[in-house]
Amino acid sequence: MFSATIYKSRRKTLCENVNGGLILLPGNNPVPMNYPSNWLRFRQDSNFLYYCGLDFAHLNLVIDSDSGESTFFGDDLCANEIVWEGERTLISEMAESAGIDNYQSSDSLQSFIHSNGKKVHFLPRYRADQKLFVDELLNGKNNSSSKELIKAVIKQRSIKSAEEIEEIESALAITAEFHKAAMGATSPGVKEQTIVGQIEGHALSQGRRLAYPVIFSVRGEILHMNKYNNVMAAGQLVLNDSGAESPRHYASDITRTFPVNGKFTDLQKKIYNIVYEMQAAAFTFCAPGKSYKEAHLKAASIAVEGLKKLGIMKGDGDAAVEAGAHALFFPHGLGHMLGLDVHDMESLGEDLVGYDEDEDRSDQFGLAYLRLAKTLEPGFVLTVEPGIYFIPHLIDQWQSQGKLEEFINYDALESYRDFGGIRIEDNILITEDGYRILGPHIPRTIEEIEAAIAEKNA
Ligand code: GLY
Ligand code: MN
Ligand code: MN
Repeated sequence: MFSATIYKSRRKTLCENVNGGLILLPGNNPVPMNYPSNWLRFRQDSNFLYYCGLDFAHLNLVIDSDSGESTFFGDDLCANEIVWEGERTLISEMAESAGIDNYQSSDSLQSFIHSNGKKVHFLPRYRADQKLFVDELLNGKNNSSSKELIKAVIKQRSIKSAEEIEEIESALAITAEFHKAAMGATSPGVKEQTIVGQIEGHALSQGRRLAYPVIFSVRGEILHMNKYNNVMAAGQLVLNDSGAESPRHYASDITRTFPVNGKFTDLQKKIYNIVYEMQAAAFTFCAPGKSYKEAHLKAASIAVEGLKKLGIMKGDGDAAVEAGAHALFFPHGLGHMLGLDVHDMESLGEDLVGYDEDEDRSDQFGLAYLRLAKTLEPGFVLTVEPGIYFIPHLIDQWQSQGKLEEFINYDALESYRDFGGIRIEDNILITEDGYRILGPHIPRTIEEIEAAIAEKNA
């Protein structure tokens, strides 16, 4: 946990941004895996962590935004529970460590909530048990979450403090280690699963966990691939998108794409360098006051120019981007916010997190998946993750429809069907006058990657 003063000050700021009423923040409970007492690994709710840091199950927090007082609800373990689970920090100690003066047993939550008839604000719920819990607590009314609270939380969590950035960089330190180790351990004949096991083991052996399931595949064109059953071969590229959590559950989210046998082919170099240039161009848009949608569109135009040089695209570059033709190869957004969640605050609503109030999300294929489009502010932490992918299914679909054929040379794509995909992803902080790439440097250029692999194999 951070110090109690940090949580107190976060709760005080929240109260200043909510105009009266109670704020209910339920903690998460264990989730059964295949029968009730066999649980998935516990992950606390990120908003609960943000406002009180307590990383235990079966807790609830209520903040009175009028008085600024917080009341914490939970029960000490009974003897039976201690027999199976061991002792746990006492509720009184938990309250003290989070700077909360008042604590009560869980069964008093319902009467507390209803005792003074105040409005109850709560956030969108993403777990079924929490939906039921809140509905029951609020007497089964057709309850809807509070937009006012959502906006207040987003406003606060979007700006990362120095200690939060330190956490993210601590996650990135481990992530850098396992990305470099994966480059060294990969070679023709090795199974993807072997490397995935090493990545997870690396994090777990240091008491860390991953912020999301590893993507490690020679089928890099499958954006969130979570199967690892290929045996890797010389000539293939492999895409590694993986990130550890920090001790206080802040995420990191890094992608590197590298050749299985340590040497890029000439064609792989050409595509890789387009993605590299997309990222470099996007970085120049990463400063306060700049729109991340503009950064995305700039990356798209670099993709079009590069693919035109290879004879894959044609026609006017600006018109191709305007029509969304680049999305055949770059079908996702340039990046997203990063923090306690890898897609930070996504449970609060992507549009509220990633879009300015006067900006509607596009419904064009590709641009529609841009999670972050808003004007950047100092303190934002985000990912910059352009990619180029050759997705046979999508190519076939577009080609059969003759879609945007004024911009795409479908005949030239035949030889790219097995290419896979390339993504380069880094995590940055928006500073007062620009940006800073967070965490230790992880080989990113072709030369750096080839040298890192050669060094590991020497
Ligand atoms: N690791 C998931 C993503 O990059 O969004
Ligand atoms: Mn990402
Ligand atoms: Mn990622």
